[in-house]
Amino acid sequence: MSLFRCPICGAVLTREERSYRCGKNHCYDIAKEGYTHLLPVQQKHSQNPGDDKAMVRSRRAFLSKDYYAPLRRQLEQLALRYTPAEGAVLDSGCGEGYYTAAISRALTEGGIPHRLAAVDISKEAVRLTAKNLQQGECAVASVYHLPIMDGSIDFLLNCFSPLAIDEFRRVVKQGGHFAYVVPAAEHLWQMKEVLYDEPYPNEVKRTPYEGFRYVDVLEVRDTITLDNPEDIFALFQMTPYSWKTPAEGVARLKSLATLTTDIAFHIHLFEKE
Ligand SMILES: C[S@@+](CC[C@H](N)C(=O)[O-])C[C@H]1O[C@@H](n2cnc3c(N)ncnc32)[C@H](O)[C@@H]1O
Ligand SMILES: [Zn+2]
Repeated sequence: MSLFRCPICGAVLTREERSYRCGKNHCYDIAKEGYTHLLPVQQKHSQNPGDDKAMVRSRRAFLSKDYYAPLRRQLEQLALRYTPAEGAVLDSGCGEGYYTAAISRALTEGGIPHRLAAVDISKEAVRLTAKNLQQGECAVASVYHLPIMDGSIDFLLNCFSPLAIDEFRRVVKQGGHFAYVVPAAEHLWQMKEVLYDEPYPNEVKRTPYEGFRYVDVLEVRDTITLDNPEDIFALFQMTPYSWKTPAEGVARLKSLATLTTDIAFHIHLFEKE
């Protein structure tokens, strides 16, 4: 049985060799990379929603160098702590799957049999996630209409992705956990100093969500050095700054051979009541 449900009728999907099927015979093909498409046209607000190919590839190029290893390791630890044997994990807005693959590997190596699902609205992101994932299910879908059965998830990860709190409340099991990763105030501060004349720190806030108990806010910080222009530009292109930086700032960044910058994350951890 799959963790996915039918986006048309809501019934659980069964995974067959080349497709998923519900009891009412709605059928979804599985692409050769191993992902499926569970995004009905009415939830698709543009031709290619979500991060485009260039952004997804920049993210892959940068993350695959393990610059964000401290965050990856912390998320692996949380997954190991909060996924019971035979438990279910969801990576909501998984991007190209760097953390998805790491969590899956950590659970397998930790001897925890589990089911894992990953969704993103960007087809290119899901395609890359599926290619990298040893075991698990991937779908192109919107986090605002998760194709996931009610109360089925033990550990939900939302890393730098849209917060769909009503859906998270619906899919996380009672007693299950939800990790919400956001940038801390000084994340990428030295890169912002290059890009902007007056950089602003990220806003930091603690928001309680109905139906969830606040367990903790974990902080992950480090200082990293990018020692070539390709990595610097890949980092820039995977951030929202690539949409809103004046040309002079981009030119300054492009002229750098190396960049040393702080990275800082907050992981807001919640338990479903
Ligand atoms: C900043 S990226 C983070 C990706 C990944 N979690 C990571 O940390 O590497 C945000 C992701 O959210 C996806 N996204 C944006 N809107 C979405 C939606 N409505 N449903 C699902 N995914 C969405 C984008 O396509 C993109 O891959
Ligand atoms: Zn159906």
